[in-house]
Amino acid sequence: MPSNPLFQPFTLGALELPSRVVMAPMTRTFCPGGVPHAGVVEYYRRRAAAGVGLIITEGTTVGHRAANGYPNVPRFHGEDALAGWKQVVDAVHAEGGRIVPQLWHVGMVRRLGTEPDASVPGYGPSEKVKDGQVLVHGMSHDDIREVIAAFAQAARDAKAIGMDGVEIHGAHGYLIDQFFWDASNRRSDEYGGDLAGRSRFAIELIQAVRAAVGPDFPIIFRFSQWKQQDYSARLVETPQALAAFLEPLSAAGVDIFHCSTRRFWEPEFEGSELNLAGWTRKLTGKPTITVGSVGLDGEFLQFMVATDKVAKPASLEGLLRRLGDEEFDLVAVGRALLVDGEWAQKVREGREADVLPFSREALTTLA
Ligand SMILES: Cc1cc2nc3c(=O)[nH]c(=O)nc-3n(C[C@H](O)[C@H](O)[C@H](O)COP(=O)(O)O)c2cc1C
Repeated sequence: MPSNPLFQPFTLGALELPSRVVMAPMTRTFCPGGVPHAGVVEYYRRRAAAGVGLIITEGTTVGHRAANGYPNVPRFHGEDALAGWKQVVDAVHAEGGRIVPQLWHVGMVRRLGTEPDASVPGYGPSEKVKDGQVLVHGMSHDDIREVIAAFAQAARDAKAIGMDGVEIHGAHGYLIDQFFWDASNRRSDEYGGDLAGRSRFAIELIQAVRAAVGPDFPIIFRFSQWKQQDYSARLVETPQALAAFLEPLSAAGVDIFHCSTRRFWEPEFEGSELNLAGWTRKLTGKPTITVGSVGLDGEFLQFMVATDKVAKPASLEGLLRRLGDEEFDLVAVGRALLVDGEWAQKVREGREADVLPFSREALTTLA
């Protein structure tokens, strides 16, 4: 089916993708000690072999003491972990695929007792103390510089091991998004205040990553309106506000915006059909990735709470029309690709009937 727009190549500078299908970043917690192993190599290799154009890895932590929030999440620092990722890169490239790591700092989501150092609390824009115990350490200017340096180093390492770019995780209520969001950023210094001030941390971080990797290495920036702490939260209410929010991020060095929504078909603002990726493309002139329930009939957060739900394959007709109309450039697929490593191949061959349904059981293996 050569006319299917999902399987048209995409080029941006040195980045050449064999298809528009992007594997969405999905935390799998299968890396004891934080090191990707042969099972992880095979997991990503299979998806590249079956036609995924760009793999965005699961969130992988930058080298800062409070970056990690969960057990068995792969690190993106330390020789052992980077050697593991290098095996993943080589395997994906051997199949003709492309891959970027999603660089992650969980911020105040981290709890005392989490690896690697149980005594380190969450770090966030604003301090949180309960019963005399510091649950979230409010970040000083030195802390901010340290975290930015950790992202820059991770990006440098990504380039050194042959990754095709990096994705900075600025979404879902993790550290960068905690700075964006007024409910979590109560600072009165230059990193707080209005959304422009609350964006300063992200802007400096993107600038540092850009300086670390040079002008030609792709930087993807993922952002979202919704937060894991509040699904109905919004950073901006109008296209004008979205433009003002994105412009400095774009100028700081973002090449591609990854616009995280739970249902890609939902209009972002009243009066237009455009979704968040559509608006972002129109306002910034940069390529965008859409995401959210592609190929499935149920959105993903309900599966994190309800164990018995099954999401069945759904028609791609609306998505293909919008991609064909160039509302967005790339399409990230999460759960459908998690449960079915051959999803892209089946879709390309018109075998949608063979696509597997998703249930939480898929999370128990790295198949
Ligand atoms: C098991 C699981 C883990 C996830 N982990 C991450 C993550 O590490 N980073 C991230 O930005 N999003 C993460 N997400 C969100 C996905 O990238 C994606 O945006 C979401 O699943 C919606 O796409 P879907 O409806 O196609 O699944 C995760 C989703 C799932 C289901």
